[in-house]
Amino acid sequence: MSPVTAPAHLPPGLLSVHALPSDHHDGPWDHILVPPGTKERLLNQTLLRLRHGRALAHLPGLPHGLIVLAGPPGTGKTTLARGLAQAAARALAPVGATTYIEIDPHAFPSEMLGESQRNITRLMTDTLPEFAARRPHTVVLIDEVESFAVRRSTASFGSNPVDVHRATDAVLAGIDFLAESHPRIVFVATTNFPDAVDEAFLSRADLVLNLDLPDETTIAAILQRTLAELAGIWPGVRGLAADDALHRKLAGRCAGWDGRRLRKLVLTAMAQRREVALDPDLLEAGDLLAAADASD
Ligand SMILES: Nc1ncnc2c1ncn2[C@@H]1O[C@H](COP(=O)(O)OP(=O)(O)O)[C@@H](O)[C@H]1O
Ligand SMILES: [Mg+2]
Repeated sequence: MSPVTAPAHLPPGLLSVHALPSDHHDGPWDHILVPPGTKERLLNQTLLRLRHGRALAHLPGLPHGLIVLAGPPGTGKTTLARGLAQAAARALAPVGATTYIEIDPHAFPSEMLGESQRNITRLMTDTLPEFAARRPHTVVLIDEVESFAVRRSTASFGSNPVDVHRATDAVLAGIDFLAESHPRIVFVATTNFPDAVDEAFLSRADLVLNLDLPDETTIAAILQRTLAELAGIWPGVRGLAADDALHRKLAGRCAGWDGRRLRKLVLTAMAQRREVALDPDLLEAGDLLAAADASD
């Protein structure tokens, strides 16, 4: 993703800022294969908040505009969050554009004494409201939030515990402030370690979606998709992309793999034999099966 603004020109704590919808942000949403209904739930929750946050804010049990994607590494959380911003922006385009912001959670190291707390507060109370004022809808990605909102009951890591408390408090106060004052912001937080994320942060989430390791059907679908993409470049691979029995057989051997590793399997298979590496049209089922067995 090429940011609209280079990080050097962005306020501290922001990785990138994008105006959506934008054609070159199509892709991530379709790229990630998840069980039926998952994307729909995610998108509907986001649209409800972005479209009707103002009205909902008057009800008791105020929505916080916070969605948490939890699951093991390599299950597509970051990619899906990026895709969600674009999918929501497309759906809302008739009523206005969307700003998509990625926060750099590593920009607030808790060792920095009171500094990280002040920076988080500035980000939440100044920077994000300024950006949110520019377009009707705003989606903010906090990737790997466990490094940002550390669970206070277990935080230690040699850092100053008082400061961890202060930084986490600043995040929570910021989310509470924005939930009320800026009902058209949605935060999407991802975490590989939900147990490390502060309970008070998780309890504010309107939706916590667990992205588990893919089941056998999804594994077969990911392999099929990866081969079909390859066949777009090397038509010799078309037969493998259409071979459902092969996908099922491979899925049986790849139980427990995450999506990232599954997509890499096809690359590994292409590198099994020199002639295939030089001419991927020559890829055979045997290369894929050998690659699956080799990376046990
Ligand atoms: N469910 C999935 N379907 C298809 N591809 C996937 C899936 N999960 C992961 N991948 C592949 O792995 C890559 C890395 O995923 P990423 O979004 O970084 O995962 P996470 O943030 O959960 O660690 C994706 O770009 C994609 O190529
Ligand atoms: Mg990630």
